[in-house]
Amino acid sequence: MNAQEMYEHLKGIIGNVIPDGEIRYKAEIAVEINRLKKERNAVILGHNYMEPLLYNSISDFIGDSLELSRKAAATDKDVIVFCGVKFMAETAKILNPSKTVLLPSDAGCSLAASITAADVRALKERFPGVPVVTYVNTYADVKAESDICCTSGNAVAVVESLGAQTVIFLPDEYLAGNVARETGKHIIYPTLTMPASPSTNLDYQMIGWKGRCEVHEKYSVEDIRLIREQYPDVLILAHPECSPEVTAASDFSGSTQAMIKYVEKTHAPHYLLLTECSMGDNIAAANPDKNMLKLCMVRCPHMNQITLENTLESLRENKIVIEVPEEIRVKAVRAVERMIAIG
Ligand code: 13P
Ligand code: SF4
Repeated sequence: MNAQEMYEHLKGIIGNVIPDGEIRYKAEIAVEINRLKKERNAVILGHNYMEPLLYNSISDFIGDSLELSRKAAATDKDVIVFCGVKFMAETAKILNPSKTVLLPSDAGCSLAASITAADVRALKERFPGVPVVTYVNTYADVKAESDICCTSGNAVAVVESLGAQTVIFLPDEYLAGNVARETGKHIIYPTLTMPASPSTNLDYQMIGWKGRCEVHEKYSVEDIRLIREQYPDVLILAHPECSPEVTAASDFSGSTQAMIKYVEKTHAPHYLLLTECSMGDNIAAANPDKNMLKLCMVRCPHMNQITLENTLESLRENKIVIEVPEEIRVKAVRAVERMIAIG
């Protein structure tokens, strides 16, 4: 595709929301990225939270973190450019270590930053024999301390696969609460502030690790009440990083990809997405016949760091190269592959 064709392609998808001059300018960058991608034998993986111009122009695969980790594991390209955040790029490196994995900007995540490998080791000592499930939104050294990973797309299946009454589920307090409700399992959420001699009653110990997604924690049941008052026939979709109260008050809860599919296959007068703003824009662009209500409070400041400009720079200057020390990788890959085998 040349710059004019890319401009027309993008204009057709999102021309009604993005100024013409910006589309023209970004189309040229996208074309140069696609040229370099071929030259370097690279694949670009784009998370569903990428801004609409990037999302619709350069990604070879788009999807949720589970689907993109499968693509990273399967690729035979020399270079994987991850348009997402650092824990996703690390997961790609864990699964496919001979490839060069590039992250266009040092993009973090409030959940990944909430827990360290030492925290997990302390929990394992405190609760010997209790299986540890960690959300993929964690860094490699935390994954290395875990029995199995999960994403929002398979958390329930992963917990159920363990056949255990009790699991330690880290580090998202809200995802844990949502999984506990769906599975009826005891999930221990020990916190840094846990009393020195906790009760042996597990329900008492459900006191939550302090990890939260800084985007999804902002949605409240009151937001839902106000929207339903105005639009009684609205379908509300919430990511499971929202609080259990918010997901319970919604009509559907699932991973970013599950929400996209749900909108595609249903026909409601209005939809409301309780997730990151760009994904709402991307779904609205892909479903022009559907009325997407806006209740967008924040873009993820980390996902927002990834732009067409720094993706171009990343390919040109080979940065930021993601490395995972081999002794950590070999432990982490067990937990990630065990998850992928479940689906
Ligand atoms: P998904 O696994 O649903 O893509 O979510 C990743 C994420 O970071 C959500 O905030
Ligand atoms: Fe992390 Fe939340 Fe951003 Fe996802 S949306 S990357 S969980 S801070």
